[in-house]
Amino acid sequence: MGRGVLGLDIGSHSIKVMELKEARGGAWKLLKFGLHKLPAEAIVDGAIMNSAAIVEGIRDLVARHKIKTRDVSTSVSGHSVIIKKISLPVMSEEELEESIQWEAEQYIPFSINDVNLDTQILNINEETGQMEVLLVAAKRDMIQEYTAVVSEAGLKPLILDVDSFAIENAYDLSQDLEAGEIVALVNIGAGLININILTNGITAFTRDINMGGNQFTEEIQKQLNVNYEEAEALKLGGNISSAQSTTEAIVPQEVGAILRSTSEAMAVEIQRSIDFFLATASGASLSRVVLSGGTAKVAGLKEALESTLNCPIQISDPFRSISFNPKEFDPDYLSEIGPMSCVVAGLATRRLGDKPQ
Ligand SMILES: Nc1ncnc2c1ncn2[C@@H]1O[C@H](COP(=O)(O)OP(=O)(O)OP(=O)(O)O)[C@@H](O)[C@H]1O
Ligand SMILES: [Mg+2]
Repeated sequence: MGRGVLGLDIGSHSIKVMELKEARGGAWKLLKFGLHKLPAEAIVDGAIMNSAAIVEGIRDLVARHKIKTRDVSTSVSGHSVIIKKISLPVMSEEELEESIQWEAEQYIPFSINDVNLDTQILNINEETGQMEVLLVAAKRDMIQEYTAVVSEAGLKPLILDVDSFAIENAYDLSQDLEAGEIVALVNIGAGLININILTNGITAFTRDINMGGNQFTEEIQKQLNVNYEEAEALKLGGNISSAQSTTEAIVPQEVGAILRSTSEAMAVEIQRSIDFFLATASGASLSRVVLSGGTAKVAGLKEALESTLNCPIQISDPFRSISFNPKEFDPDYLSEIGPMSCVVAGLATRRLGDKPQ
């Protein structure tokens, strides 16, 4: 059993931290959890625009929650990360590490000198002498941006993961996979949708889409002529009494209609990615979708996905698989923020000295 780390999810809407203790029998106990909201546009399209705000946010979380662990597991996502499943002749891990430098060029749209490469052997077919390998390439300048803010906040960025794999680790905590199932893990944050489709519990397809909760906020801003904060409050189901004196009164039905039409557009975009995968999966169909991310809570999005994808949609809550002391952590608060804590939960289960899985 490797040494524990602090999971750190630097999202564009909020930073989350989580520390878990591994108990006997593979159970997990919550030691620390915290969330810090970032100012608008601190991160745009995955690029760090306001590193001071992020450094300050991490420092604040560490101080506020009296976090002692300095070793961090964090993640990146978006268009600077390329994940491909490739087929290669069977070879050892060492041989793979060496040959991938030569093999990878043809699979990624960036220069090999600008990326960090990682691989994972998914399965080996002794009969054909071929194996399937997951190739992950992440742009070095983006990795440097993220590791720099972590270091500047006084922490050690020792494990670097990818959001779509972190949600897979969080999903594994629930251990509710049935053989033969095709499960789409769909994490909808503020700026990005991360999709990871699992067949028999193994990644078969991943894709990040440049969409998220911001779409809803922007549509409300545009159509109801309110500012960002007011639009965000309306999206969450609140009122904006201060704005109502300056603008015409806003009818909840108008907000509802915007949430509905944006949900439908988003569901179609997600369907497009899933269909792209299914087209390669000879006649297979989707068993279910596990939805996470803060945007999973938008009123009506789950229903829009259900009718577009025509399969059951579950909303994920990692705290159902993590035990905690109700005197230290408010159960209602944890269940409220459960969906947006999937990435950080997956990161917090990583151990130093373990082989990444
Ligand atoms: N109750 C709610 N109803 C609707 N939307 C919500 C709710 N709670 C949070 N959100 C939205 O969820 C988004 C934040 O989700 P999350 O924390 O998963 O994103 P992030 O990780 O910070 O961003 P990203 O990964 O996309 O950069 C925001 O757009 C926020 O407005
Ligand atoms: Mg996120």
